[in-house]
Amino acid sequence: SQTVERTADGAVSVGGLDVRRIAEEFGTPAYVMDETDFRARCRAWRDAFGQDADVFYAGKAFLSRAVVRWLYEEGLNLDVCSGGELATALAAGMPAERIALHGNNKSNDEIHRAVEAGVGRIVLDSFQEIARVAHIAQRLGRRQPVQIRVTVGVEAHTHEFIATAHEDQKFGLGLADGSAAEAVRRVLMLDSLELVGIHSHIGSQIFDMAGFEVSARRVVGLLTQVRDEHGIELPEIDLGGGLGIAYTPEDDPREPHEIAKSLGDIVTRECEAAGLAVPRLSVEPGRAIAGPTAFTLYEVGTLKELEGLRTYVSVDGGMSDNIRTALYDAEYSVALVSRASEAEPMLSRVVGKHCESGDIVVRDAFLPTDLAPGDLLAVPATGAYCRSMASNYNHALRPPVIAVRDGEARTILRRETEEDLLRLDVG
Ligand code: LLP
Repeated sequence: SQTVERTADGAVSVGGLDVRRIAEEFGTPAYVMDETDFRARCRAWRDAFGQDADVFYAGKAFLSRAVVRWLYEEGLNLDVCSGGELATALAAGMPAERIALHGNNKSNDEIHRAVEAGVGRIVLDSFQEIARVAHIAQRLGRRQPVQIRVTVGVEAHTHEFIATAHEDQKFGLGLADGSAAEAVRRVLMLDSLELVGIHSHIGSQIFDMAGFEVSARRVVGLLTQVRDEHGIELPEIDLGGGLGIAYTPEDDPREPHEIAKSLGDIVTRECEAAGLAVPRLSVEPGRAIAGPTAFTLYEVGTLKELEGLRTYVSVDGGMSDNIRTALYDAEYSVALVSRASEAEPMLSRVVGKHCESGDIVVRDAFLPTDLAPGDLLAVPATGAYCRSMASNYNHALRPPVIAVRDGEARTILRRETEEDLLRLDVG
């Protein structure tokens, strides 16, 4: 969905810029992010959910100050899950009331900074945390708006969901075992906390809306229980993120308006059935906004043809800039972008330069037999969870993020240097 075209001599251009020029100016590997596409996705989510709902972009997918400004300008809110993300959000000028703080083990320092800054909500994840946030807010003389994160008993996988009676994971407070209801009781007793709603996040890279429907139903069930027990109607529901994107042509993602309609309908239906006023809905897409907006640009180095097997195509990055293939067996596609080629396709595996055989970027791909060192390859859909999960393994220098817009490219996150690495090494 990026504005990708072929130039007259067969190279690819993105947002009106020839990838060869981008590589020349900024070097490789590099993440090339289409700002226009990113902003358009923000707007699509904003418009789909309308005035009665809030869209919180999940910063863990990818966060930088420029991205925070885009979010702000396009009317989105921001979900942060660490002090580092909070610092970036505030440094870029995101108003604190548009920030939500998440995490299953927030430190006192993170909580303190968030309350002090005045974040719009803290999503509580454990009994201990209820007490800690209450204590910190009280000390600061604040009444902190909070949501309670519940585990609804839906485990979402890529193409399916399994309803489990018992949740066995570290996040949230269980609905089935009564922990969530107990958390509500405790929060309501604490003056320094203002309980505004219930939060549920069921997983990531999900295509099937059925898991969200079960989640919505169970969250509304808790709201009903809260009304019956305490006589109050909580004003907000957050159904989390997790909407899948297309990594390969087989993936068939839902559009924001379909998602908004489906979630809105189910929440409305369930609330009407329970006699509850429909609460304000929020969602937290990360991947669905950032993922499709960037590709990674690599330069081909060594080629190794293994007779009867495949050709190993080594690029100048690897698992340090995209851990997802090694970690999740994630699938990606790849294309030669610096020139056209009519050569026969060969079965290839695009690998990195790291010292282990699991260092694979694209497991199976067809690339032209005339591929040569110096050619540029692009791996699409790397805007989410690639730069944000990048490492310095083998003292790799994390690649820059280059934003492209109206035929111009600029660095929004610069490439690391060896000096950066040595600066941390104080010994
Ligand atoms: N909200 C909460 C509370 C979350 O934990 C997450 C993701 C999101 C929202 C955003 O989910 P998204 O819309 O991006 O799927 N590293 C993994 C993904 C981990 C997601 C963790 N939580 C990957 O590369 O696939």
